[in-house]
Amino acid sequence: MTHRVTLMPGDGIGPEVASAALEVVAASGAQIEWDEVMVGQPAIKEFGTPLPDAVLRSLKKTRVGIKGPVTTQVGKGFPSANVTLRKQLDLFANLRPVLSLPGVKARYKNIDLVIVRENTEDLYAGVEHRLTPGVVGSMKIITWDACTRIAKFAFEYAVERGRKKVTAVHKANIMKIADGLFLEACRKIAKRYPPIEYEEVIVDALSMKLVVNPYQFDILLCTNLYGDIISDLCAGLVGGLGVVPGANFGKRGAVFETVHGSAPDIAGRGIANPTAMILAAELMLRHLGESAAADRIHDALINVLSSRRKKSLTPDIGGSGTTQGFTEALLAAMRGLTESELTRPYAVQGRIA
Ligand code: NAI
Repeated sequence: MTHRVTLMPGDGIGPEVASAALEVVAASGAQIEWDEVMVGQPAIKEFGTPLPDAVLRSLKKTRVGIKGPVTTQVGKGFPSANVTLRKQLDLFANLRPVLSLPGVKARYKNIDLVIVRENTEDLYAGVEHRLTPGVVGSMKIITWDACTRIAKFAFEYAVERGRKKVTAVHKANIMKIADGLFLEACRKIAKRYPPIEYEEVIVDALSMKLVVNPYQFDILLCTNLYGDIISDLCAGLVGGLGVVPGANFGKRGAVFETVHGSAPDIAGRGIANPTAMILAAELMLRHLGESAAADRIHDALINVLSSRRKKSLTPDIGGSGTTQGFTEALLAAMRGLTESELTRPYAVQGRIA
């Protein structure tokens, strides 16, 4: 079956890692017809907006998209295309599996955490206003409905994937009303899932606990801003932003992407790690029901990473290679893998979706 998917390469390293993911998906056996649309800087140049109408039109038709990162200016400029996209399509759940990968130099081994982040409200929605000169307000909007549906999503995910524990992340000791409402919703939903352990941790203490002993957590259920920050912290536990994918789910569709941004410091140098984007493509293929194609990609990725050949790996994970070199090694592994070479035990245990 052929799937139509909206392709948004993004900007910065986005097009570099998106093109790697495209090559790998093409070799995976899945039949994808790409509907390519511009987002981010190229779209600003061409259409005067980072998120042209064509993007939403395409996603409303295909209901599945894959997106490279896009640059958002600091302190000025357009509202974030990511935030707008998530809000417009009501992609309320952001899922970020954080997994240790063999061959990737990292502080910890065998990490298997999942971040479930509310995607549509909180301070992260960027609802701000100037009260008087020198005085501004930034609204932390939290609603019962959004808290309930993200909590449900986390517990349903836990049941489906055989996970053991959900930790609600909050700061309700200070934001008693806003984070208090979030906790109230989480507690109500948790009661419906007695086999899943439920606990609550204050976000600052969580940051310390994750660095000291990340193994004590399983699913981290977060409001939007805490989820954003904790995601980067967790990426640091498994080797950095180059290796962590994400997915945004809503009732009307799904958009797959990386946790990392457009990395302007390395854009155009051909050394971006495409792993996160390739794992995002793997998540997308599983969502489309293309599990054989997703398995092929995952197994080849494990094969290349665990080879530890410096020339095949990018500098962020200790290699001396390029995005293209990494992609070629992956394509070669996909062509050459025999059943006996597949790293099944890891791949089965560590499958990301
Ligand atoms: P960033 O994630 O782009 O980069 C942080 C650091 O990680 C940089 O040193 C970068 O070189 C490195 N890095 C990131 N991805 C990498 C990869 N695949 N391979 C090797 N190294 C990698 O975060 P930063 O610099 O804070 O943000 C840059 C821009 O990206 C900003 O405009 C921000 O708003 C945007 N952004 C976009 C996101 C998205 O579109 N989903 C997510 C996060 C940030």
